[in-house]
Amino acid sequence: MSKKSTYKPIGIFDSGFGGLTVLKEIVKEMPQYDYLYLGDNARAPYGSRSFETVYEYTLECVNHLFNMGCELVVLACNTASAKALRTIQQKDLPRIGPNKRVLGVIRPTTEIIGNHTKSGNVGVLGTAGTVSSGSYLVEIEKFFPNIHVYQEACPMWVPLIENNEHQSEGAEYFIKKHVEHLMQQQPNIDAIILGCTHYPLIIDKIKKYLPDNVQLLSQGTIVAKGLKEYLHRHPEMEINCSKSGIVSFYTTDLTATFDKSATLFYGKEVKSKHLAL
Ligand code: DGL
Repeated sequence: MSKKSTYKPIGIFDSGFGGLTVLKEIVKEMPQYDYLYLGDNARAPYGSRSFETVYEYTLECVNHLFNMGCELVVLACNTASAKALRTIQQKDLPRIGPNKRVLGVIRPTTEIIGNHTKSGNVGVLGTAGTVSSGSYLVEIEKFFPNIHVYQEACPMWVPLIENNEHQSEGAEYFIKKHVEHLMQQQPNIDAIILGCTHYPLIIDKIKKYLPDNVQLLSQGTIVAKGLKEYLHRHPEMEINCSKSGIVSFYTTDLTATFDKSATLFYGKEVKSKHLAL
């Protein structure tokens, strides 16, 4: 069999750099597989865009990942998971290829949130798109109907992070503002989901404005464990994933710019290739 036909990486998609915080944990948990990361940096951020636009962009990128050999794609982006995942799963996959799968990051997070709160009050910090979709409210209700969920949209955080301005004084102002808004809604919140894969980059800054008893949950490790369990439950998918331990990176924007910031997010040197949309 040729190399091409046996190369079936797991696709990891994000609007930009955020998904790298998830990829990093997935690779740590399961280094044996091949991974293909795609960041749609040319069109990021997705957070303030309409349902139609996020769906259209996400589907286009997922199709590119399928064409590059992926059979399984993880949307490592809450906004895409909230606004595009269900339509892709229900409407597009049966047509594109019934053996292909697309997973998101919201479900694995909501499945375990009950283990992290004593007060039953959970906060979600996310993009405007994720918050307005109501996906976290709906999904948490399914697993833990007694948990109360409070949300805060943080529309400035992704642009600040994508522009590498998250260490600046200006960023501090927006971080404080949104964390305080969330806690004002319910001071007894004791667990907060970082419902955007960019936010782990500012986790220390978010912590500064929270009482010590509040647990902050990043999705990287949660999604990595969820994916491992998924592959265990679905041997028919697992067997298709190639296992040479190769991690490749693609961006829809300038590779030099991507490599510089991606290295910060991923914690290792990144050399990307360009994907023309
Ligand atoms: N990392 C994406 C998420 O998890 C950021 C969305 C954006 O591009 O605004 O929602």
